[in-house]
Amino acid sequence: MATATGSNKMRVRSGVGIIGAFVLSLGVIVTAAAPRFHNAPASADQLKNPYAGQAAEAKAGASLFAQNCASCHGSNAQGMANIPALRSGATQSAADGQLFWFITVGEPDKGMPAWGSLPERQRWQIVTYLKSLSSSSSSKTKPVVGSSR
Ligand code: HEC
Repeated sequence: MATATGSNKMRVRSGVGIIGAFVLSLGVIVTAAAPRFHNAPASADQLKNPYAGQAAEAKAGASLFAQNCASCHGSNAQGMANIPALRSGATQSAADGQLFWFITVGEPDKGMPAWGSLPERQRWQIVTYLKSLSSSSSSKTKPVVGSSR
């Protein structure tokens, strides 16, 4: 008797592809529901940090922060007078893409300069550094209050 196992295998494989596409589209819906940070446009949510969680990039970001940001936000991003802390609060719950967008455009009328003149890589390194200040590198988990430093 002849069998048709070859065509059966093909059918199983395309079924897995459909389920995979469904899971991916669910992920997109969840991402789009992230909270708005400084009225960041929805397109900012789609920007993906190419260096997320990479220690060497965070380290590069730390020196860029010291050069460009610490004078206002404090050497440990703890904030100063009425300038917000970045190691806690809204910055830690914002999506990486929203932070990248905000750093790029700034809010000059409120005293936050635009940093679009810094190369894109350096802006992502700063985002990576800022996210490394919470005890978790993931932007989805809540920051833990009271760090070891
Ligand atoms: C001249 C002072 C100054 C410098 C330099 C500066 N900032 Fe700011 N930044 C501000 C002020 C003021 C605000 C608050 C703006 C507002 O009220 O919307 C702010 C807000 C922010 C916020 C939003 C915080 C929040 O909780 O809403 C982020 C993120 C941020 N700055 C990142 C940076 C980064 C990264 C750099 C360096 C590349 C930088 N800033 C350099 C003054 C500064």
